[in-house]
This record gives sequence, C-alpha cells and structure tokens, in this order.
Amino acid sequence: MTDQNGTIESHPLTGDDDGATYAPSAEFRAQANVNDPSVYWRAAEDPEAYWADQASKLKWTKPFTEVLDWTNPPFAKWFQDGELNVAANCLDRHVAAGIGDRVAIHFEGEPGDTRTLTYAELTHEVKRAANMLTSLGVSAGDRVAIYMPMIPETIIAMLAVARLGAAHSVVFGGFSAESLRARIDDAAAELVITADGGYRKGRVSALKPTVDDALALNGGEGSVQKVLVVQRCENDVEMQEGRDLWWHEEITAYDGEHTAQGFPAENPLFILYTSGTTGKPKGILHTSGGYLTQVSTTHRDVFDLKPETDVYWCTADIGWVTGHSYVVYGPLANGATQVVYEGTPETPDWGRWWSIIQKYGVTIFYTAPTAIRACMKIGRQVPEQYDLSSIRVLGSVGEPINPEAWRWYREVVGAGTAPIVDTWWQTETGAIMISPLPGLTALKPGSAQVPQPGIAATVVSESGEPVPNGQGGLLVVQRPWPSMVRTIWGDDQRFIDTYWSKFGDVYFAGDGARLDEDGDVWLLGRVDDVMNVSGHRLSTAEIESALVEHTSVAEAAVVGADDATTGQAVVAFVILKSQQTQLTADDAEPALKKHVAAQIGAIARPRQVFVVTELPKTRSGKIMRRLLKDAAEGKEIGDTTTLADTAVMQTISARMREELGNK
Ligand code: WT7
Repeated sequence: MTDQNGTIESHPLTGDDDGATYAPSAEFRAQANVNDPSVYWRAAEDPEAYWADQASKLKWTKPFTEVLDWTNPPFAKWFQDGELNVAANCLDRHVAAGIGDRVAIHFEGEPGDTRTLTYAELTHEVKRAANMLTSLGVSAGDRVAIYMPMIPETIIAMLAVARLGAAHSVVFGGFSAESLRARIDDAAAELVITADGGYRKGRVSALKPTVDDALALNGGEGSVQKVLVVQRCENDVEMQEGRDLWWHEEITAYDGEHTAQGFPAENPLFILYTSGTTGKPKGILHTSGGYLTQVSTTHRDVFDLKPETDVYWCTADIGWVTGHSYVVYGPLANGATQVVYEGTPETPDWGRWWSIIQKYGVTIFYTAPTAIRACMKIGRQVPEQYDLSSIRVLGSVGEPINPEAWRWYREVVGAGTAPIVDTWWQTETGAIMISPLPGLTALKPGSAQVPQPGIAATVVSESGEPVPNGQGGLLVVQRPWPSMVRTIWGDDQRFIDTYWSKFGDVYFAGDGARLDEDGDVWLLGRVDDVMNVSGHRLSTAEIESALVEHTSVAEAAVVGADDATTGQAVVAFVILKSQQTQLTADDAEPALKKHVAAQIGAIARPRQVFVVTELPKTRSGKIMRRLLKDAAEGKEIGDTTTLADTAVMQTISARMREELGNK
C-alpha cells in the first residue's frame, strides 16, 4: 500500500494474487478487433501517426494537417487546424451511413418503464433540443450546467450543448446545493438543465429543489438566467416565473431541422469537476477532436466492440467521467447499441442488473469493483438465476480489482471465459490509458497491465528515474495523449502545479504503481490526500473543511481507511468546541455524518465519526494522518516518537479497536 507518506509496499486488496494468468481463447483472439501484437511497437515508433490514423476515422468538416502541437507544454493542442462537430459524429454521421434504424439506447427506468431510441430518433431529438437551446441564447463558447438523473434527456442535453459548440458541466445528481453552486459559479454557467427528480432505490429523488437552493445561495445573485426542467417523476416542484421552463413544453415549438456546424478541434467540449488535495474541486477541461478520437478508439478496441451485434452496458452514472466517455461519447461515436439504466442494482432486488443483462442480451458489461464486491456479498445464487450467456467481454474501472472479485466476476458473470479488461484512467486522462486488450493480453487478476497503443506510461522513482521491472514508484505519462486534460478551468497555474511540476514535462497522475517482472503495471492507490470510495474520488481536505464549518467542531482530520466493500471509506476524527452545548459526543456522529452529506453530497458521508479530545500532531503541528489511518484500520500503531503528545494515539487506537471489535 502507498500510505500518505509515500512508502510503497503492496495494495491491501490485490495483495492475494496467486500468479495465474488467463490468455485469450483462440476463438476470441481470431475474431478480436486487435489481434496483432505489433500494434504496440508500431504505435510506439510513431505515436502521432497512430493517433492521426485513429482521428481520421471520425468525420471532420475541415481535415487537420497538424497532429500535435507541444511547443508550449503542458498545454497540448491536438489536430488543432481541423474542425468537426462532436455531436454530428455521434449522430448524423451514423444516420447518413444508413444505420439510423439501429438502436442507440435501450433505456430502462428504475420503476420498469422503458424507452428505445434509434440513432435516427436520437439525432432528431438532439436537433430539436439544439434549436431550443439556441433560442434560449446558448451559443459556441458558453457553459451549460446539467444536473440530471440517468435518463435519455441527459444524453440529449449533453449532445445538444456539444452540437452548438458550447461546453457542458455535468454535476452528479448526488451532489448538494453548495457543491452544485460552487460548480455553476466556477464555470459561470447561464443555463442549468435539470429534472424534477429521478428514481433511486424505489423512491423519487428530487433534483429541482436542490437547484433552487443552489441558486438561492449568495443572496440569489449569480450567472444563471434560465433553468430548463425535464419532467421525469411528476413530483411537485416550484417553477420560478421568468427563470424556469419545462423542457416538454418548450420543445414542442422546435422541429428536427438543424445543420451541425464544425468547430475547431480544440473547442471546449466539457468541464467536469473532480476532487483534489485542497478543498476546492478542479474543473477538468476537455476539448473536442482529441477527446473524441481517444474515447472512440479505446471503446472499440478495449471492449472489442462489434457495433452491428454487440449490446453494450456501462453502469456508470453520467455525472462521472466514465459516463461521459463510455456512456455518451465513446459508444455513440462508434454507433454502438447500449443499455442505459436509471437506478441502483438492488432495486427492487439484487437480481436487477442480471435481469437487465438477460432481457437485452448484453454482450459487453463495464462496472466497478465496489459493485462486484457488493454483489459477491449477496451471493452467486442471485446471478445464477439469470441467463448471462450473452456476455463476452467484462470491464472494470475506478479502483484496483482484487483477484477474489476478479475471479468471481469472470466465473459468475462471464461464464468462466469472458476476458476482463481492468481499465486504469482518470477524469484528467479523459479515456482509458492502461488496460489489457482482450484479444492479445494474458490477463493477470488485479493488474491493469499494459499502456494502450500510442500511450507512453510508466513507473518512476521519487527522483523521476524509470524503475526496473519488479519495483514500485509513481505512475507517470511521458508523452501527451489526445484526450488529456487541457487545463483546470480558469486556473492554468494550478494545472501546472498539480500535474506537471513534480517531474518536468511529464504528467504525474497521483497514483502509486509497481511494475512486475514482466513489466506489467499494478496500481497501488493514491499517493496524495485523495481517497477512492466506491470508485469515486474524494478529498480529505474538502471533507475536513465541511466538518469545521459545523458550529460545534473545532478541528477535524479525515482519512481513507481500507474497506472490504467500498475500497476505502471516509473516517473522520473531530474535536468538539469545549464551550459548545449544541452537540454532545453521543449525538455528534449522526449529526456530523448528516452535515457532511448536506454540505458535499451523500457520497462524502463518513462511515464513522470519532469524537476525540486531541489529534496526533508532530511537534511542528502537522496532523499525522498516517497514524489515524492505521488506527481506523485497526492496525498496530507504529512509531509515535515524532508526536508532540504520545498518549493521544494510545487513546484513539484503543477506542477504534473497541469499535471495530464490536462491528
Ligand atoms: C483514480 C481516478 C477513471 C474513471 C473512474 C475514476 C483510480 C481508476 C483504476 C483501475 C486502479 C484505478 C486511480 C485514479 N483508478 N481506475 N483500473 N485500477 N485504480 O475516475 O474519479 O478521476 O479517479 O481512480 O487512483 O487516479 P476518477
């Protein structure tokens, strides 16, 4: 494990590897999109030629002549003199090619309602929405915030924004009003597209009221002019005269005639906020041509997509980058048929996912290790009641997959034969960077293994020297790649400082990693104060500042403790203000859990909150989070000699053990 002091041992979950490998079957290999291993060295010899070749599979309204401009690192420009329309590449292009009747989306609502959209229908809806947005004043260069459930209109809204050359900023529907507002303000969005609500766990989860709360903050002042509301649940919502409009009422005025204009390859496509090591989320900016090139290439090759016959399903929410790249842009650019499911895997019961796979004949399934572990806990007897024989490729993303979960996934979901692609990437990388190719790679459970063709990623020591096989260090990307983050919105300096200052013109991903004897990459977890909970990135600093904003809290320290289901879990240690009568040590835990969920969003809710009277600090006053993490994991507390007060850790650790023992 890479602890927060940067020592690298092994990953807590993937440590139980038994060394077995799983080569592709001869049948799979023969039919695979990529089955010639020379692709790796050919791409490595001339990465720009490789990417130019991939980019030319898209439709450019003006062809590019320059592949990469890296004269001003770290600000890359890919295909910059080319022009294209991203939405038309995902829609009109397929209709023009005669596949308009192919199903683009099999939508399955959580209550069981369904909707099918062919490429022709989706194109028609996006054109109408683009006309509607135009008359609401949206044009190239603008930003539109999207706060939606997992329904077709979310995809339609994103593509309509992209079609106009504007940029979307999708905010995950689980984020609080404060988090939403911070993102709206940072991007200075003038339009918010939302829904009355969405269905989650059998209930209506309202969204519009959160938008209202967000916009009411700061005395109601802000950039937003209009709010467009999709009707999904018919829950009661307030509509503010002059500001709020119903999508279904507005859209009736617009027809499906809309000619897509080409925009420069470097035109912003979206901003997506992600947690960093400080409290303020980073607005990751992605642009058009390079992004679409790499998401479509990786979607086709890593999942071995056959668009005529495959039924693809990625369970990620569109509010995260996986949803952007592998629900919206990758699959649609490739003309794939996919399932979009609104709800949670346990609604109405844990058979839901498997029944969806059976119903639509899903062939490619992409999900996260945390979900696989949750299903494992429920037991294989549930999926075994369903016919999953259509599955031929499985994917994993978000965190390392432990070999036990890998084997379960392969045996129970993949009939013991489906290749599993463990895909490493980040919001910042935009697309898959390290992953097996299912027709080529002998799979190793727990390892993402190989940088994709055209990607130069490796492991270096603290001083930036590439480590030999068999050793650990820090993961870096040595050359620019097409779907890379272009900057942090409005903060070029933070972009440079965060990713490009540690090793010069080399991208530092923030992950520890190890190369095994064959040179395959094993991810070991974050080396910064960023936690990975259920495959979602959370910042310790952001949760700590939410905690100290509570009137009763004097000080807080947050750590990501290893957790058997969620990978890591948020554990908070707080000191209450002594004069405070508002919270007692007993009601502090539930109250502060609620407080964090309200401040940031339910995903940030701590698993545990411990009230302590002291925090372990060095003599210079730095909180020793590493010790708290050990305590939160019930481990022996190591060397405490650098602490100002050595007794504090004994007390905390004794209390933690008692708690863990009682669980
Ligand atoms: C961080 C990025 C990429 C979409 C989902 C998360 C971790 C991601 C893997 C993997 C080991 C992984 C890394 C990375 N991560 N995929 N296959 N194996 N670790 O996107 O929120 O930007 O988080 O997730 O730590 O840095 P994100």
